[in-house]
Amino acid sequence: MAPPVERVSVELMPGLILHPGWLDGPARTRLAADLAAGFSVAPPYRPRMPRTGRPFSVTMTNCGPLGWVSDIAGYRYQAHHPETGAPWPAIPELALRAWDDLSGYPAPPEAALVNLYAADARMGLHQDRDEATLDAPVLSLSLGASALFRYGGTSRSDPTRSVRLHAGDALVMGGAARLVHHGIDRILPRPPDLLGAGEAMPAFLPPDGRCNLTLRRVTRPEPSPTA
Ligand code: SIN
Ligand code: FE2
Repeated sequence: MAPPVERVSVELMPGLILHPGWLDGPARTRLAADLAAGFSVAPPYRPRMPRTGRPFSVTMTNCGPLGWVSDIAGYRYQAHHPETGAPWPAIPELALRAWDDLSGYPAPPEAALVNLYAADARMGLHQDRDEATLDAPVLSLSLGASALFRYGGTSRSDPTRSVRLHAGDALVMGGAARLVHHGIDRILPRPPDLLGAGEAMPAFLPPDGRCNLTLRRVTRPEPSPTA
């Protein structure tokens, strides 16, 4: 019998917990396949910044009963794809399992935002605060190329640090870190794959691209009935 996989985790700051390699190779392949199936229902599209209408450098889609969208009118969650009007596809099983294992939250996630980064895409420092339930963490799962993730504090002017996120890593932003500013400085070039044993890249990604999934609880769960 194979020995149990040893799981390590790193507390980057209180509430910000990195679980390197949480998804192993087969799990990453499976998650990528489930996401790709979802894209046929909810194709990735390029959102725009509120007010200015400037296009994002990432493309996005969602899974789950709700999805996070941004357009000239603002940021919000909604139950349908902004371009096709169709409901979002279901959150992949493996992502739900990661939420159960890592979130410490008693209710399931309602939205899984999928960000797709080409090699030159980035994401500016921001807070995830469009949810009515800030007691639930945001759980991030990464696939494809590695990225330099920057995180600071709850104030925009707080000092920042960076950490590399690799394929399979899970990152929990919860507790005191739920409202920290964070972003992606850049996608890191992939090392030359001399032995052909490098990361199998999901077919939907552009060359050297990256995919990040963030799971969020959006609405307050119904209080559980008391006995
Ligand atoms: C996000 O903050 O929505 C995405 C972070 C990431 O791509 O790792
Ligand atoms: Fe975010």
